[in-house]
Amino acid sequence: MSDKSNNHGIEKLLREIDNTLKWQSSNLHKKVADLLYPRLESLLWLEKRLAIKGQLPPLSGWPAAPDFLLRLHTWVCKHKPQVVVETGSGVTTLVIADALRQNGSGKLISLEHLQEYADKTNETLKDEALTAWVELRVGVLVPWYGEHLNPADAEKSSRWYSLDLEGIEQINLLIVDGPPGATCLYARYPALPAFFEWLAPTAEIWMDDANRQEEKDISEAWAERYGFELELIPLEKGMSRLWRAGGVTPAAPSATVDTSERSLGLDFSIGR
Ligand SMILES: C[S@@+](CC[C@H](N)C(=O)[O-])C[C@H]1O[C@@H](n2cnc3c(N)ncnc32)[C@H](O)[C@@H]1O
Repeated sequence: MSDKSNNHGIEKLLREIDNTLKWQSSNLHKKVADLLYPRLESLLWLEKRLAIKGQLPPLSGWPAAPDFLLRLHTWVCKHKPQVVVETGSGVTTLVIADALRQNGSGKLISLEHLQEYADKTNETLKDEALTAWVELRVGVLVPWYGEHLNPADAEKSSRWYSLDLEGIEQINLLIVDGPPGATCLYARYPALPAFFEWLAPTAEIWMDDANRQEEKDISEAWAERYGFELELIPLEKGMSRLWRAGGVTPAAPSATVDTSERSLGLDFSIGR
């Protein structure tokens, strides 16, 4: 082979490498931009809405993503639910409590299985004078014998929060973000069987992480078995929303300004 055709081959190879690198880098740039810009946008709006004085824990990894948190805060401020229940405490607990305080009414019951994280969340609630809006109930995960999608002969048997659910009724919003997926197959399924009886007719159920197949399957099974409408919302981690057809989202009651100790440290300014 002549030197000329050898050089030609090398030049062609270099051009191909160059094109591949350009294509990969623009692809990577697009992927980063697609994830980062909506995240930043949600964070900016969330920061505008929150009235807390300190900061939220870092929002990467375990907590709900900023787009879910923003939607949650906005919904609670708009619909003024009186009873919110969540499974899996953390950033969502702070965000809901902040919205309830801005509303001037309502309570959040948060179920948590790990004392360590309940303590962390309680500490932040205390620092922000938000404790009066939240009952954080801690209970380890224990065997669950109710209805489930986890097969009876599964490697990991079904478990759910060992909690006294007393006093929980007329739930307006149920947020399902626990227990962890590693608990057993379809770990979050018991949330609806456990709370179904206590839902207000107009209740909404929101499931975080609905990009995952298990969470999608749970949401579809809930919709079918319990007669709910289902919407899958394409957020960063995915969200499913369930509600009863004909159920009207609660009309926002007029804010009641509390004169009890609940109101201590309150800041009602919404447009901070
Ligand atoms: C899927 S995470 C979501 C918790 C919450 N709904 C949120 O979005 O922030 C579920 C678990 O994370 C754990 N968790 C809570 N606070 C935490 C923290 N500061 N660091 C690490 N894990 C935490 C808790 O055990 C909680 O049940």
